[in-house]
Amino acid sequence: MTGKLSQVGTTIFTIVSRRAQELNALNLGQGFPDYDIDPRLSELVAEAMRAGHNQYAPMEGLMTLRERIAARLLAVYGRRVDPESEITITLGGTEAIYSAIQAAAGAGDEVIAFDPAYDSYEPAVQLAGARCVRLPLAQPGFRYDWERVRAALNARTRLILFNSPHNPACTTASSADLDALAELIGGHDITVLSDEVYEHVVFDGGRHHSVLTHPALAPRSFAVFSFGKTLHATGLRVGYCVAPAALTRELRKVHQFNTFSIATPLQHAIAAYLAEQPDWGRGLAAFFQAKRDRLRRALAASGFALPPAEGTYFQLLDFSAFSTGDDMGFAERLLTEARVATIPLSPFYADPPHLSFVRLCIAKRDPTLDEAAVRLNAFAQRLKAA
Ligand SMILES: Cc1ncc(COP(=O)(O)O)c(C=O)c1O
Repeated sequence: MTGKLSQVGTTIFTIVSRRAQELNALNLGQGFPDYDIDPRLSELVAEAMRAGHNQYAPMEGLMTLRERIAARLLAVYGRRVDPESEITITLGGTEAIYSAIQAAAGAGDEVIAFDPAYDSYEPAVQLAGARCVRLPLAQPGFRYDWERVRAALNARTRLILFNSPHNPACTTASSADLDALAELIGGHDITVLSDEVYEHVVFDGGRHHSVLTHPALAPRSFAVFSFGKTLHATGLRVGYCVAPAALTRELRKVHQFNTFSIATPLQHAIAAYLAEQPDWGRGLAAFFQAKRDRLRRALAASGFALPPAEGTYFQLLDFSAFSTGDDMGFAERLLTEARVATIPLSPFYADPPHLSFVRLCIAKRDPTLDEAAVRLNAFAQRLKAA
């Protein structure tokens, strides 16, 4: 059989994590914390199971959880969202992205994604039978080229995949970017899928510009969020999608036959946890900024350049001072010679340009970051001496 995704292999994240384990390397590759979740959250999961919350949850998600999300959206973004008709609990951000794409795009449609693009976008578009049009963000600094987007729009364009804070570029979209996007799609039958899983991780006092706050974008956008990122618990696989009622109705038609409903005890536990922490998400920027700064300080004299990281839980490492080779080769050397696993950027592109960056995950314990810096500094010293 020729599978529908026959051209897709194992993701770079899985490959790097597997090899990091085999080589006993520090894994700054895949984006997940290496520290424990809040023990209170674990207790609440156990309590929810003991209390008998172990059967199917409502397809749309537990109402108490959706109400907590709505309250927080009002507090953070000043946006009143109806938990009944506009919020759906999904299996992580990944399912929200997948189900929204299936709902919005089909055969003959085009979906625009910006490269470097998160790896689940294009396969989801292909499974919908649509064509993914990949437009590179402009260098330096991975910026939107809105004229290029305008030139790519046509009558088949159905959906635009937008991501801020951006993985792996570590950039954040400005309010001018949102205005430009809104202006471009005005008058067209185009929906936006805004991947905002790092909404709380914006550094240096910056603000996250959510599509939910944009008067022209909010009525035509799916906004995707993840408790995996917000609660340092990527394994819980609970996320949510916020969209106007008409879009949510279509999303739920896919969701109900895709995952149907999300783990009941986890939804109870998360709802109870959020009730105990009404300011959830608030400390994340400071928490990750301290880690970003710690790693940047430790690598300041290494010879690697460190492009600005405005958000997400990643930091790019620019190795152009040491090598003119490609990022796949340099990541391999970092893995085998420095024993630090990183993620090259090429796999995030349909047509990779020559880029001298690898991505480091900063969602790690301080000793892990310190040890990674020791190894990277030592490797840089060896390269300088060679
Ligand atoms: C940009 C982006 N979108 C979506 C996801 C998926 O989120 P989740 O783990 O909740 O499925 C990730 C996870 O790394 C991500 O980086």
